[in-house]
Amino acid sequence: MKTQVVIVGAGPAGLLLSEILHRHGVESIVLERSSREHVLARIRAGVLESTTVDVLRENGLSTRMDVEGHPHDGMRIAWAGRDSFLVDTYQTLGRRFMVYGQTAIQEDLFAAADRRGQAVLTEVSDVLLHQHDGAPGAKPYVTYVRDGQAGRIDCDFIAGCDGFHGVSRRSIPEAVRREYEKVYPFGWLGVMARVKPLPDITYVNNPRGFALASYRNQQLSRFYIQVPLDHKVEDWPDDRFWPELKARFPAEMAAAITETDTIEKSIAPLRSFVSEPMRYGALFLCGDAAHIVPPTGAKGLNLAVSDVYYLSKALARWYRSGDAVWLDGYSATALRRVWSSVRTSWYLTTLLHRFPDTSEFDQKAQEYELDYLKHSARAQAALAEQYAGLALEKAD
Ligand code: FAD
Ligand code: DHB
Repeated sequence: MKTQVVIVGAGPAGLLLSEILHRHGVESIVLERSSREHVLARIRAGVLESTTVDVLRENGLSTRMDVEGHPHDGMRIAWAGRDSFLVDTYQTLGRRFMVYGQTAIQEDLFAAADRRGQAVLTEVSDVLLHQHDGAPGAKPYVTYVRDGQAGRIDCDFIAGCDGFHGVSRRSIPEAVRREYEKVYPFGWLGVMARVKPLPDITYVNNPRGFALASYRNQQLSRFYIQVPLDHKVEDWPDDRFWPELKARFPAEMAAAITETDTIEKSIAPLRSFVSEPMRYGALFLCGDAAHIVPPTGAKGLNLAVSDVYYLSKALARWYRSGDAVWLDGYSATALRRVWSSVRTSWYLTTLLHRFPDTSEFDQKAQEYELDYLKHSARAQAALAEQYAGLALEKAD
């Protein structure tokens, strides 16, 4: 087979890239390791920056989001023994963010891919990238196995959208890659439950650990609590989860949370990770393949979308005019936004969690940082700007 761009991974980054490229008349084939059912069953992100909402709207992907998504004006911060406060992105910046599950975005992206007859080859294994180093005369291609048959796709470019554990990043020689990593000493237990959500997305710092109440729709809540790294989902039956969640929220908020059977539980470790550069010859990395943020602040999916925005513009320009200037600038442009969100999610993680090895000094400093944030409109404006997400650098 032959195409212009092979996209490895059918997560939000890969499918969105194929959609935008198609709108620019650029052909692609998407290779995905898992089944479509598996990809659609993953419950992950929920909060979309207004820039992400704009990109989805500009590319005809917002019909359902605009009906079922829930615009929010700000995020609330609470901590033990004090009144909570709202960091109001709408009042400060005139920007709302949207609560709309990643699962729904995946459904919308697969539906759009089906409508245009996009080639998405699922359940492929042994994906390998070849001749992607950009050497003169190199002709990139990708090999894989599907249904026991070996396949090969020749292409101009490869987009590595295959997440943190994918093959793409590892196809850049170690001598070229520079990796920056911070691993946090706890994980998040995530729970979905048919419970009326709290009115605001609420982040809690409590001596028992961090907690978060988020939203999916008027009857569906998403909750997270900080748990030790060695805990398993089996350690958290419902009759342990609900009292612990409520114990971390201020009493009046806890009283508004109804206990019910939970629908889904999973535990995710927290890490910050960036691999530079995001381009190697004909290979371009997008999304979690190049960077991971801890979920505090909800940046991961949004970064996948901003990477795809920059890469799709750059590829479209190259195919339109043969001008490689944006392709050459892709890594530096994408990384500016990546590092900004990496910093924000590190800051929020540090501000809101209880660290097992914290010193009394660190604990005091954290409390006074929260106090400052609560009482300073300027500090709140700075956080609102970071939480809402930086504007995309407009390429044209
Ligand atoms: P992925 O979604 O990981 O997709 C990569 C795809 O590549 C997968 O389908 C995988 O099967 C496939 N693949 C992997 N290896 C191969 C291979 N060798 N060959 C072929 N295919 C391969 N982000 C936010 O913005 N807001 C939030 O509120 C938020 N909350 C989160 C909550 C949780 C619990 C978690 C775990 C994450 C959260 N995130 C959030 C992060 C967000 O989900 C990710 O950043 C996002 O999924 C990244 O998209 P992606 O397409 O880059 O990668
Ligand atoms: C959600 C996840 C986050 O990481 C976050 O900071 C806010 C909300 C969510 O899944 O709804």
